[in-house]
Amino acid sequence: MASVTASVMQRLMRKPRLLRLIFGVLRRFRPILKIRNAVLILRHEDVTEIFERDDDFTLAEVMAPRMACGRFLLGMDRSPQYEAERGLLREVCLPDDLDRVAELAGRFCDQQLDTARAQGRLDLVRDIAEYVPRNIVAEYFGVPGPNQHDMAIWQRKLASLIVDPSPDTSGLKAEAARYAEALNGYLDDLIEERLQQLRGPGKPPDNVLNRLLRLHLTPSREIGKDVVKRNIAGLCVTGTAPVTKAMTLLVYQLLSMPDAREGVRAAARAADVEAVKHFAFEALRFNPLFPIQPRICPHNTVIRANKPGATPIRGGSKIMLATLSAMFDGEAYYLPDRFKPGRAIGGYLHFGHGMHECFGRQIAEAQIPMTVMKLMRLPNLRRASRGKARIRYDGPAVIGLPLEFDPEAPA
Ligand code: HEM
Repeated sequence: MASVTASVMQRLMRKPRLLRLIFGVLRRFRPILKIRNAVLILRHEDVTEIFERDDDFTLAEVMAPRMACGRFLLGMDRSPQYEAERGLLREVCLPDDLDRVAELAGRFCDQQLDTARAQGRLDLVRDIAEYVPRNIVAEYFGVPGPNQHDMAIWQRKLASLIVDPSPDTSGLKAEAARYAEALNGYLDDLIEERLQQLRGPGKPPDNVLNRLLRLHLTPSREIGKDVVKRNIAGLCVTGTAPVTKAMTLLVYQLLSMPDAREGVRAAARAADVEAVKHFAFEALRFNPLFPIQPRICPHNTVIRANKPGATPIRGGSKIMLATLSAMFDGEAYYLPDRFKPGRAIGGYLHFGHGMHECFGRQIAEAQIPMTVMKLMRLPNLRRASRGKARIRYDGPAVIGLPLEFDPEAPA
């Protein structure tokens, strides 16, 4: 029964148009919908209220068991440890790094496109959407993995456990435990090797792992190797799979909407990366990575207190924040059903909101538009099979989307 529910949930999450329709009706008539112990929240105002009330609506109970490599931000509620570790990551991932991230994304994408250019086809997931973030993790985070294949599988499987919408994850957990053991073992060796280099006379490269290890080597900071390992493992997993999937969903969406496709192509030809970013994140609104985000309500409370529609919530309830619905709420978005690439980037809920708002938001916002810009310059880029090819999935992870374009004649 649990696996049937999981499979139905997974299929439903892949049908954004259908979800939008259902959510639109519910938002109008039952914007706070209780089904047994679960509460579905559909209005933008209520979704953001819950994101902001992080003592009354928590995440650790849902996410901590899904952090296979050890404790990490997403699996913690507000606490001194959470504040310390988010602060630590802010020290090693700096706003000044973002140009480098964008430059790396452009370089990795060009490398792949150079190979594909003469063939007139590529697989978006394998060749670009996995390759670019994985290589950013290798170069910028400083974690290349033992080889590209193993690293891709570890990242995909460990992230799948985090985002799988089904209540019963026992199968995925057992599988993820094996991959976590492999990644942690690899990181143990890598950390020792890097510590030797950092203690030596040379000048090791500047990357996030080496920055963390420099802090570990600073006695006054008291940052254990376990803290370094848990956090770099967390970044390796959260820093790749969401980018891969978001990139796949939004490119699919852009290629499926003729006006959006022509608009983004023009912006890409003009090398207007800022305009491409607006097209990309507006397309993601129509086909979002996380249509629903979970919370738990640990004690009795009220949503919309002192407002019309105030609703009591029982302690122990599972809360489902329908961010897809919130991003189509006419109270918060002007003409929500229209594709409008001029919307404020900060207004989207793709990266959550409040305390757990995506730590890697700017890193993602630096690499995705650059990659999409390069892609959209390919002549007549389209979904393969005369525009009908669909995204292939392995559980919640995307694993393929064949694309075609007009091949360039050799110079
Ligand atoms: C388009 C790509 C991405 C999307 C759509 C995305 C989305 C999200 C969302 C929705 C959350 C909040 C979950 C919640 O509140 O329940 C989140 C959290 C997080 N993301 Fe991302 N993410 C992306 C890329 C990245 C990247 C590149 C990194 C790493 C560099 C990253 C690291 C994290 C971390 C560490 C958290 C936990 C933050 C906390 O709990 O304080 N994400 N992400």
